[in-house]
This record gives sequence, structure tokens and C-alpha cells, in this order.
Amino acid sequence: MVSGFRSGMHWAAIVAGAGLLLALAAATMAILRVPSVPRVRGIVTDDQGRPLAGARVRWKGTTQYAITDLSGQFRLPREDGRALTVWMPGYFIAGTSAERGPGILRLRPLPGEDWDEYEWVDPTPDAVHEERCGNCHGVIHDEWAASAHARSVTNRRFRNLYDGSDWDGRPERGWNLLRDHPHGAGVCAACHAPTLPAGHPGLDDIRKADGVHACGVHCDFCHKIADARLDRVGLEHGRFAYDLLRPREGQLFFGPLDDVDRDEDAFSPLYKQSRYCAACHEGTVFGVPVYTTYSEWLASPARRVGLQCQDCHMKPTGNLTNIAPGRGGIERDPLSLASHVMPGATPEMLRQAVRLDADLQASEKGIVLEVAVTAQEVGHKVPTGFVDRRLVLTVSAWGDGGKEVQPISGPLLPSDAGFGSNRSGLLFAKVLEDPEGRAPVAFWMPCRVREDTRLEPGTARAGRWVFPRNATAHVRIRLVYHRFPPQVAQEKNWPDDRIVIADRILNP
Ligand code: HEC
Ligand code: HEC
Ligand code: HEC
Ligand code: HEC
Ligand code: HEC
Repeated sequence: MVSGFRSGMHWAAIVAGAGLLLALAAATMAILRVPSVPRVRGIVTDDQGRPLAGARVRWKGTTQYAITDLSGQFRLPREDGRALTVWMPGYFIAGTSAERGPGILRLRPLPGEDWDEYEWVDPTPDAVHEERCGNCHGVIHDEWAASAHARSVTNRRFRNLYDGSDWDGRPERGWNLLRDHPHGAGVCAACHAPTLPAGHPGLDDIRKADGVHACGVHCDFCHKIADARLDRVGLEHGRFAYDLLRPREGQLFFGPLDDVDRDEDAFSPLYKQSRYCAACHEGTVFGVPVYTTYSEWLASPARRVGLQCQDCHMKPTGNLTNIAPGRGGIERDPLSLASHVMPGATPEMLRQAVRLDADLQASEKGIVLEVAVTAQEVGHKVPTGFVDRRLVLTVSAWGDGGKEVQPISGPLLPSDAGFGSNRSGLLFAKVLEDPEGRAPVAFWMPCRVREDTRLEPGTARAGRWVFPRNATAHVRIRLVYHRFPPQVAQEKNWPDDRIVIADRILNP
């Protein structure tokens, strides 16, 4: 019994001992595996060999990165077949090929000063001029070419207002900047033709902007922006508020990617911030608040949740996976690549941004129409941008025989809104008037803001109309976006460019 018990003990001890050994072995293996996790080490220095702390080292095209320590050293888990790239403020992005492996990564400093004799590169693809952006960045080029930025000098409506012509080229039709305010003509170039150099005849007459300057807000200008000043935002226009960095030799592009190791690129967080767009999208011109989009954004709910202009206007399409296919570009996450189409007030954007709620009820007083218009999912007022943009809500009613019925009460559109007098509706616009109180008036003429009734993001504006009870069979509400006041469009013979946001017929 006893021996049996003892031998039982013995076996139990052996089993326990074996278990312990196994556990020990496993632990040892785990310890041994740590150094066997493939890691690479390296050191980042400047071009003089001095170690650089705080540099960001990344496996190209991945989200894996490390920051160098005080001695310029870094460690990263190994990634086979990828290049290692490194960047820090004030330097070009550098890299080492997958074959050479890490070791010492040297950063070359950015040029110390802006070289104003730099020759701007035209974006248009052309086999003779290798450096042209469109040769390698085909998709981005086509997106940009379809955007308003590519037409900021040649845009036909802009030109018609600038030189007083109409759509068919007839002179002296309506608004005319060159006639009315010739000394003010140079102001437009700061944002519409930002690369025109001092002394160029295009500064007095933008129709003389030639070559790359006629490309308006183009790639090379936008990607030479090193910093954007806000201290005089609205007063310092476009290029005057940007610190550019144009190299004396070689090339330099700033952008949102920190792993482009072509020895001519530099990362800049500014490219994902509203501040980047501010100097061109905020402008008090001749004392008139013509462009106020940036300050509207500052006050918007979108800004409070961290949405920048780029989040809505450069949202990735999801289709672009390589920004320079066959020309050195790599496959990237399509959701990390921005789009350059920059849609503004398109039908899709407007319908997303404006909600119309309407309710029609029969009551003792008559047929009551209640309408609420709300701006939502937008980063500024609606409309925003150019001062003459407007949204117009019109309300009309008719009886069974088709005879128009006038409301008993309810708001009317201003008589000079361009829709005749006694039209029921609401105008959402920043209205400029001349010293005699007449509207519309071109912003470069003596004028002041009569009222600003544009929609604030996140808030509703309402209207209430009462129609005679027995005579009213149908009520129609239309909400339409106009780029310009109808009177101006008519005088200029412009093709219809209204956008209908909503058009509803309600029956009581
Ligand atoms: C109005 C200024 C502006 C113009 C014009 C412009 N870009 Fe950009 N570009 C930006 C901004 C801002 C970003 C970063 C957007 C983001 O990441 O949200 C960007 C991003 C990029 C990127 C990084 C990849 C990507 O799509 O995100 C490349 C490459 C690029 N631009 C090339 C070009 C080329 C080529 C052109 C002309 C065909 C051009 N850009 C025109 C402002 C501009
Ligand atoms: C160098 C000045 C400049 C910069 C920088 C700039 N813009 Fe523009 N932008 C313009 C001009 C000028 C126009 C109008 C062109 C025209 O219609 O003639 C314009 C037009 C637009 C439009 C189109 C509006 C419409 O009517 O369709 C959008 C949207 C826009 N910009 C967004 C942006 C965003 C977002 C940024 C920053 C990432 C930016 N812009 C940076 C000057 C600039
Ligand atoms: C010979 C081909 C070629 C030409 C020409 C070219 N690029 Fe690029 N560019 C590239 C390649 C390749 C990349 C990196 C692609 C990658 O890593 O996926 C790049 C990257 C960029 C970036 C991203 C920089 C960053 O760090 O975010 C910008 C911005 C850019 N190019 C702008 C331009 C502009 C503006 C022009 C014209 C003035 C231009 N490129 C002309 C090939 C070219
Ligand atoms: C939350 C998304 C969002 C943000 C953030 C945003 N926008 Fe917009 N933006 C829109 C929508 C939607 C429209 C179309 C409705 C309208 O015209 O207001 C628009 C229209 C525009 C227009 C066209 C106006 C016109 O009628 O010609 C311009 C220009 C513009 N935005 C510039 C900017 C700039 C610059 C910023 C940053 C300071 C910005 N937006 C921030 C969503 C946004
Ligand atoms: C602070 C920069 C800035 C200055 C200065 C400036 N613009 Fe603009 N302009 C813009 C921006 C940004 C837009 C795009 C806004 C939008 O689409 O709603 C624009 C749009 C316009 C449009 C609308 C074009 C269209 O087809 O809808 C006209 C017209 C115009 N500008 C005329 C002028 C004239 C004339 C001058 C000079 C007296 C001038 N601008 C000065 C930035 C500027």
C-alpha cells in the first residue's frame, strides 16, 4: 500500500517535473525568439554627418514608421522588398533602396531662400518637355484640368466681367472692370493668376497672361507653397500671403506624402489644412468682403469636428492607386490619395448641402405653406465663394383652372432680385448695393453690403405663406442656385447655368 502510494508519488513527481521542463523549454524558446524578430536599425544624419533627432523613418508606402532618438538612431521591424524613407522639417525626403538596406540615411536641407527667377513648369503633358507634370501624373492632371483652378484666367464669364464683353464677344455689354476701375485690374491676378511676375503686362490686363501663367492656379504654384500666413488674412491676397520656396537648381515639390524619396520632394502637414486655401478663399477687395469662405469655415460646426476644406473638396475618389504609374509611382491605398477635381457648387454638392422641408395644411385662415431651408454637411455658408452667388426660393400657386393665385400673406423677394416685383419667396444672398441703394452692383464699384441672408451651416431659415382657401389647388416651391444675378447673366447673354436644387408641387 505504502510503496504503492510512494510509487504513485514518484510518478506524479515525474509527470510534474516533465511539465515544468516543457514549460521552461517553451519559455526559453520565447525568449530566444525576441532577438530573432527581424528588425532593422539605422541612423539618420544631415549632409554633414551630424545625427538628426526627431526624423520620421518609414517603410515606403506603409503606415509603419519610427522616430529617431537623440543619437539619430531608429529601429523598425523588417519589411522585405521595400525602400526606407526619412523626412524631417527643413529637409528633402530621402530614402534608401530595398537592395542597399538601411545603414546611414542622409537628409539634404531645403534651399535657404526662394529663387524668384525660377521658371514655372507648365502642367500640360508634352513629350518634348519631360518635366511637365501631366507626363507622369496623368490622372491628377486630368482632374485638375477639369477644375475651376485650371480656368481661373481663361474662364469666359470671368473675362466677360473683366473686359466688359458678352458671351458672344461683343464689347461694352454690362459690367466692365477695365472700364470702371482700370487701376484695380492688377488685384485679381494675386489669386486668379498667381505666378505672373512683377512687371508682366498681364498684371494690368490679365488677358495678356501667357504660357504657364494662363494656366491659372496650377500644379507647380500650389506645390511650391512652403507656408501660408494668416496674420492679414483677407487683406493680403493669394500669392502675397504665401511663402514660396522655388529652387535655384533641381526641383522641389511640397506635398502630403512623407515617403516620396525622389530627392526633390518635401512633406508638409499644411497640405491637409484649411489654412492652405485661406489666402485665396478669403478676400476683402476694394474694401468689400467679396470672398469670406475661410472665415465662414472658422465659425462653422464642420471646423469644430475637425473637417478641413480638403476633406470635402479633395476627398479621395477611391479609383486612384498610383499617382505616377510607370514613371516611378508605387501602388498606394486609394483612400490616401486626394482628388484634384475640387467640385464647388455642383448639383450633387448643393443637394447634399441644402435640405428643403415643406408642409402644406388647410386651416381656417386659408391654405398654409411652411417651408424650412437648412444648410447641412457643409463647411461654410450656403452659398459661399464669389460675392454674387445666390439661392432663390420661389413660391407660386394656382387654382383648378390654372389661374395663378396670389398669397394673402408671406414674404416677397426683393423687387430688384431679378424675378419681377411681387414674387413670393426668399433670397439667400449677400446683396451689394450702390450709394443710391440700387442692386445688383459690381463689387468694384462704390458699394456696401445691404444684407447677408445666406444660410448658416446647421441652422434652418423658414418662411410661411397663406393662400386663399377655395381658390388654391396647387402650390409649387422651387429652390434654385444662381452663379450670378439674373440681370447680369441676361446682359452678358450667358447660357443658362442655374442649378435646380428642389422643385415640388404640393396639393392641399
Ligand atoms: C489649389 C492647389 C493645388 C493645385 C492646383 C494642385 N494641387 Fe496637388 N495637392 C494639393 C493639396 C492641398 C494636396 C493634398 C490634399 C490632401 O492630401 O488632402 C495635393 C496632393 C497632391 C499629390 C499627392 C497625391 C494625392 O493625390 O494626394 C500629388 C502627386 C499632387 N498633388 C500633384 C499635383 C499635380 C500634378 C497637379 C497639377 C496637374 C496638382 N497637384 C495641382 C494642392 C494642389
Ligand atoms: C492661388 C489661389 C488659390 C488657392 C491656393 C486655392 N484656390 Fe480654390 N480657387 C481659386 C480661384 C481663383 C478660383 C476660381 C476660378 C474661376 O472660377 O475662375 C477657385 C475655385 C475653387 C473652387 C471651385 C468653385 C466653383 O465655382 O466651382 C473650389 C471648390 C476651390 N477653389 C477650393 C479650394 C480648396 C479646397 C483649396 C485648398 C486646398 C483651394 N481652393 C486653393 C484660387 C485658389
Ligand atoms: C518624370 C515623372 C514626373 C514628373 C514630370 C513630375 N512628377 Fe511629381 N512625382 C513623380 C513620382 C514618381 C512621384 C512619387 C510617386 C510615388 O511615390 O508613388 C511624384 C510625387 C509628386 C508629389 C508628392 C510629393 C509629396 O511628398 O507629397 C507632388 C506634389 C508632385 N509629384 C508634384 C509634381 C508637379 C507639380 C509636377 C510638375 C511641375 C511633377 N510632379 C512632375 C513623378 C513625376
Ligand atoms: C463639410 C464639408 C465642407 C467643408 C469642410 C468645406 N466645404 Fe466648401 N462646399 C461644400 C459643399 C457641400 C458645397 C456646395 C454647397 C455650397 O455651394 O455651399 C461647397 C461649396 C464650396 C465652394 C463653391 C461656392 C460657389 O457657389 O461657387 C467653394 C469655393 C468652397 N466650397 C470652398 C471651400 C473652402 C475654401 C473651404 C475651407 C475653408 C471649404 N469649402 C470647406 C462642403 C464643404
Ligand atoms: C483673394 C483672392 C481673389 C482675388 C483678389 C480675386 N478673386 Fe475672383 N475668385 C477667387 C476665388 C477663390 C473664386 C472662386 C469662388 C467661387 O467659385 O465661388 C473667384 C471667382 C471669381 C468669379 C466667378 C467666376 C465664375 O465663373 O463663377 C469672378 C467673376 C471673379 N472671381 C472675378 C474677380 C475679379 C474681377 C477680381 C479682381 C478685381 C477678382 N476676382 C479678384 C479669388 C479671388
